[in-house]
Amino acid sequence: MPSAVRSLLFLAVAALSATASPYEHHDHDHAAPRALPGQWFHREEHPAYALFRRGDTDGITYPEIGSQQWSAGFPQDNDVTKNLPQAWLDALDAAVKAGTIPDIPVSTSTGGNPTYPQGFDPNGPTVCSATYKCVNKEDLWDAPDGVFGSSFDDGPLPTSMPLYQFLKENNVITTHFMIGSNILWNADAFKYAFETLESDLAVHTWTHPYMTTKTNQEVVGELGWTMELIHNSTGGRLPKYWRPPYGDSDERVRAIAKEVFGLRTVIWNQDSEDWSISTGGTTRPKVDAELKQWITGPKSPGLIILEHELTNDTVGAFMQAFPLIAQNGWKFESVARLDGGNPYQNSADDTSDVTPQSVGVLAASSSTPSGSSSAGSPTGSSAASKPSGSGSATSGSGSATSGSSSASPSATGGAAQDHSNGAMSHLSWQSAALTSALSVLAAAFALS
Ligand SMILES: *[C@@H]1O[C@H](CO)[C@@H](O)[C@H](O)[C@H]1NC(C)=O
Ligand SMILES: *[C@@H]1O[C@H](CO)[C@@H](O)[C@H](O)[C@H]1NC(C)=O
Repeated sequence: MPSAVRSLLFLAVAALSATASPYEHHDHDHAAPRALPGQWFHREEHPAYALFRRGDTDGITYPEIGSQQWSAGFPQDNDVTKNLPQAWLDALDAAVKAGTIPDIPVSTSTGGNPTYPQGFDPNGPTVCSATYKCVNKEDLWDAPDGVFGSSFDDGPLPTSMPLYQFLKENNVITTHFMIGSNILWNADAFKYAFETLESDLAVHTWTHPYMTTKTNQEVVGELGWTMELIHNSTGGRLPKYWRPPYGDSDERVRAIAKEVFGLRTVIWNQDSEDWSISTGGTTRPKVDAELKQWITGPKSPGLIILEHELTNDTVGAFMQAFPLIAQNGWKFESVARLDGGNPYQNSADDTSDVTPQSVGVLAASSSTPSGSSSAGSPTGSSAASKPSGSGSATSGSGSATSGSSSASPSATGGAAQDHSNGAMSHLSWQSAALTSALSVLAAAFALS
């Protein structure tokens, strides 16, 4: 054996015995098998750490992310009402019976503009459609003064990776409103966001529809499956926030999110329509100029800009604007942390302890009629909806047009439907690193 290898092995053995020695005096009798060290040897920044680390879990062993077993139980197509867990249906039922889910009609979408039957004013307190810019104060539209509330919609996607690497290099955590079906098809990017970035994960539905056009059960499926996939892929974490695709929510949809799943609705206060660069709706220079205008503009209210990890340009526009955020004195904060609390319902972040909690079960059982009526009832939220009924029907639907023209279903829907993405080659360095580490070890043993 070459002496260099021999002395390396000697050092390794010496290090192991040194580690073991403090315990030797507890171990008089005979060689009991030693437990693995309670502490991981490498510091967290060490590349090897990322290969093995997992956040704390709720104690259940979940299938490996990306495995057949992991994905098998989730909708493989757009039918989110198939095999809905009984617990979710029971929770919906209980909430409806308790009167916490407003009984308003499902909207119909004609070319991207959700409309309601005669007599249901989208700006009125009964419907209060976010597409029409009716604000329910329980929803998150603004960041606190001076705070840049950061989030990205539609991931994970192959285009997410340059963004993720940029976030890592700049050492910032953001909120990813993820599309459930995109997680299924981009498991490696998902793992990177959770395990390496330790980003905050939130819900952006399973298939990216106009949620107000969906029945109660469809809304439950869109939210529930996405929550369950995040839950089962993060050691049991339950997201606390969701963002409706196209910002399309109303009193009924937000109540289901809240009463069945404990989710708070997040909208935004600035929209560059960055997603539509690729479809000619806007241009990259225009998006760059808008980002710059907002970031160099007033600090009250704080910013929540709608941004997407969708294309090179949506990601590129953010990266280009990023230095301006600090330069202009903003505090950068992940949207899921704007309220000063945890980004998850049952954990402080991607590595802290998890309180075991099932999707759509605890939220429902804790949602007693008396407890939830104040916040969830149509009356409660009518009081909350913006007196910007000054937003007359006319100005209201004006903003709806601009809001929902941002919403050509085919364009953004493509995000959910683009399942052609293969495995992430960006991440292959990880397995390469593991392989080469193993072969070094194997060589050392062969030499000995
Ligand atoms: C999610 O995990 C739970 C708990 O282990 C399991 O019972 C459930 O089947 C999983 N869901 C799916 C769709 O695989
Ligand atoms: C994205 O665009 C930049 C130029 O803005 C280019 O340098 C880069 O290669 C592009 N990346 C991808 C993945 O297309």
